[in-house]
Amino acid sequence: MQVIIFDDAQQVAENAAEWVAELVNKKSAPVLGLATGSTPISLYQQLVNKHQLGQLSFKNTTSFNLDEYLGIAADNAQSYRHFMNENLFDHVDIDKTKTFLPTCNQGENPREQGLAYEEKIKQANGVDLQILGIGANGHIGFNEPTSSLASRTRIKTLTQQTLTDNSRLFDEHEFQPTLAMTMGIATILDARYVLLMATGANKAQAVKDMVAGPLSAMCPASALQMHENAIILLDKAAASELEDQDYYQWANNQNIKINQEFGLYHNY
Ligand code: F6R
Repeated sequence: MQVIIFDDAQQVAENAAEWVAELVNKKSAPVLGLATGSTPISLYQQLVNKHQLGQLSFKNTTSFNLDEYLGIAADNAQSYRHFMNENLFDHVDIDKTKTFLPTCNQGENPREQGLAYEEKIKQANGVDLQILGIGANGHIGFNEPTSSLASRTRIKTLTQQTLTDNSRLFDEHEFQPTLAMTMGIATILDARYVLLMATGANKAQAVKDMVAGPLSAMCPASALQMHENAIILLDKAAASELEDQDYYQWANNQNIKINQEFGLYHNY
């Protein structure tokens, strides 16, 4: 894992945007894995800015989102499709027919839909760079604690903690779904690079469990310890429970020097 600690959330977003821009500018048919939630909103703002400045085009990009609620139509303001349109897709030149979310509409079989999503990712030649947030309980996507580390795209029941954490986004009388389709942990680990963003003190314990804890289904994000190219971007508050902060800073400075001497090397 490459753990990089920044002063604040804005710097996390700026750095994440550089990773995305590097991929999108470098590869002729880039495949992005995208996340929703509060954390990546500032990343998407950065990407929109870069696009508006003429520095970034998503014309040839395909995207796969991590998850989508069940029982919510695409045009519902709570759907993750709506979130992606509002925060990114409507403001850049991406071809929306090449943007995918793991949907399961009423009457559709979630098991078949999960398999079909896996197949679609394969046909696109896999995800180059997967953006991730982390739940306060260590979830990635909607892979809640106890999710199989070998899981694939499927239906999941959300935990009470996740429902409570996300209830801030729903009005008092609004329907809050308890089921979602999500990429599995193995699906996420298949991405060539994963870029996890975590900001705020409420993520500090989950970040510690992910980086330094045992590899365990109780902290699904700990599976990233098995990934060859996992980049963890943290603000100081999210890093506050990590013991080896000086080491991470020092190792990162060494990496910057190596990159300056030999150039960036991303094996997309
Ligand atoms: C979102 C997702 C979730 C979030 C996580 C953190 O697509 O899959 O795992 O990344 O719940 O959410 P925020 O960023 O709102 O704290």
